[in-house]
Amino acid sequence: MDKMVIRGGERLLGQTRVSGSKNAALPILCAAILTPEPCTLRGVPALRDIRTTRLLLDRLGVKMSADAGDVVIDAKNLSGHEAPYEIVKTMRAGVLVLGPLVARLGRARVSLPGGCAIGARPIDQHLKGLEKLGAHIRLEHGYVEAEAPQGLKGAVINFDVPTVGGTENLLMAATLAQGKTVIANAAREPEIEALAEWLRAMGAKIDGDGTDEITIRGVTELHGADLPLIPDRIETGTLMVAAGITQGNVLLQNVRLDQVEAVVDKLRQAGLVIEPENDGVRVVGPHKVRAVDVRTHPYPGFPTDMQAQFMALMCINDGLSVVTETIFENRFMHVLELQRMGASIHIEGRSAMVRGTPFLSGAPVMATDLRASASLVLAGLTAEGVTEVQRIYHLDRGYERLDDKLIALGAKISRATQDTV
Ligand code: UD1
Repeated sequence: MDKMVIRGGERLLGQTRVSGSKNAALPILCAAILTPEPCTLRGVPALRDIRTTRLLLDRLGVKMSADAGDVVIDAKNLSGHEAPYEIVKTMRAGVLVLGPLVARLGRARVSLPGGCAIGARPIDQHLKGLEKLGAHIRLEHGYVEAEAPQGLKGAVINFDVPTVGGTENLLMAATLAQGKTVIANAAREPEIEALAEWLRAMGAKIDGDGTDEITIRGVTELHGADLPLIPDRIETGTLMVAAGITQGNVLLQNVRLDQVEAVVDKLRQAGLVIEPENDGVRVVGPHKVRAVDVRTHPYPGFPTDMQAQFMALMCINDGLSVVTETIFENRFMHVLELQRMGASIHIEGRSAMVRGTPFLSGAPVMATDLRASASLVLAGLTAEGVTEVQRIYHLDRGYERLDDKLIALGAKISRATQDTV
């Protein structure tokens, strides 16, 4: 098992390119199940979650081949209809095959994802929506069994919460349903718009994506598509914090500033200078970070996936910042680890009171999930001495070569094998 060893205190300088969006790629790869024609998605990052999706699609008889980030998915010989527990337990996004499988084959058997480190994360809204579309759903032996032998039928679906994965699953399912579907209280994340754009390129009739009401008019078949992936907005935010926390000066390429407005807003309040230039976005870290309160919300609010990284930045100022998590109930696991590095943080319910200190001190810490591991790496970049982030495999699920990118900007980072006791 790898750990990351970071010697803190280097200013990050230079330029780096943001990779394609993991969370946009995962549903789009699953959407290719909807057609027997080959599809090409360009600029796909090399990540563990992408490899897991490939494994899952392979089990279903779908072929996926990659050439330097251009991925071809061919579901002509779609034969299986089961997403097994071993795969869905390591990557919740495995449930995203549910909608496409029922739409194309009339049935699916998908493992329930169960709990994960950041909270319970149910899929009741996905199932309620599929039932509305006429699927018969049973829960048996830890699996969702969904059947719609006569095909799905358009309906009005009103989500109780704006769920990203639920909106994606239902959006995909409704493309091949008979008649009109309306998804109300839909999630508005850029990844939903990216999926809708991809489905439209496949021949789907979709309006309203990017708003909280999406209308889908079902078609009888979809065809192949060929599109590039949007940049990863969470990697964008993470690299911005990396520049900010090290008083760096970094040019980020492949950035969609319109998709990271809430994060940029908060980072500017914290003192970072973030300005578009001809070939990217310049990010300059302040001499002294200002304390800023932040509260996570569904898009276009501040993303829960940036909460841990923003908290790392708030650890090094001389004020008090209140960081409130409203999306997931257990997303403060990085707090104990940041405290081991000298951070002064006190949790009260869903809020963390972060009292900034002039500096953090390097320590051995443990990554517990994807974004928590990013926050520990960021803290390590500014800490005095050496930080060892153990269980770094969490980071590799969702960031493409983050350490290489940081090293190219001047960070002192290496990987080593973790000692086992
Ligand atoms: C997606 C992202 C994840 C991000 C999250 C919130 C992917 C692969 N993952 O996860 O990185 O942190 O959005 O922006 O894109 N909920 C229910 N019932 C459901 C579904 C969700 O109660 O059926 C609740 C969840 O417990 C959570 C909230 O709704 O409290 C939002 O979850 P959701 O938007 O579904 O997150 P994911 O799609 O799993």
